[in-house]
Amino acid sequence: MGSLLAVVPLGVWTIAHLWHNLSAFRGAAAWQADVTEYSHPIAFFASSVVALLPLGLHTVWGIGRLASSSPNTLRYRFYGNLKYTLQRLSAIGVLLFLGAHIWLAMLHPRITTGRPEPWADITHEMHHHLPTLAVYILGTLGVSYHLANGLHTFTMGWGIVSSRRALQRLEFATIALFLVLLGMSWGVIYALWDAGA
Ligand code: HEM
Repeated sequence: MGSLLAVVPLGVWTIAHLWHNLSAFRGAAAWQADVTEYSHPIAFFASSVVALLPLGLHTVWGIGRLASSSPNTLRYRFYGNLKYTLQRLSAIGVLLFLGAHIWLAMLHPRITTGRPEPWADITHEMHHHLPTLAVYILGTLGVSYHLANGLHTFTMGWGIVSSRRALQRLEFATIALFLVLLGMSWGVIYALWDAGA
């Protein structure tokens, strides 16, 4: 379950979230409508449950996997071994990033002001507060790697891809997905940064 939930719904939700955020290129009203507004309070609640519950379960599962792993990348300098270690390092980064992101962008504004984070606030922070910009750049780098490489290990682990040739193709698809996710993430960050000038 920890593995499956990471792909559906968590991975799908993450890609949809990045896609919606691309509305930042179309300005305040489009971004606010696509990212922060819900037609009904129940829609907000349902969307939060679909994202946060699997995230919580996957995180508990992931911490268990972290505790039971012992990387030996320095002894065995294989490419696959490096990816194994990076998957675990990115998991720790993603955990810290999502903790800050969910609190500051989702929960804190709603609890303190009763409304979602306004466009003016996030764009201002992105442009004028260097730690915010750095955390988003590094956090989304971690998410992009963790999700792309995670889909790779998922397809191998569940026996969806197994032949040598298919695994080679999967390697290229994984790198392409990583670059697409990173391009989307950093594109959104650029649009928010630019709007905050
Ligand atoms: C946006 C959030 C996240 C997404 C989309 C995501 C996605 C994934 C995917 C698809 C996998 C591969 C599963 C498999 O190989 O069967 C994975 C593995 C893993 N995830 Fe996450 N994850 C997220 C957040 C986290 C967090 C917060 C942690 C915290 C510890 C974490 C820890 C791990 C670990 C340790 C693995 C490697 C498991 C293994 O290969 O044994 N993940 N993740």
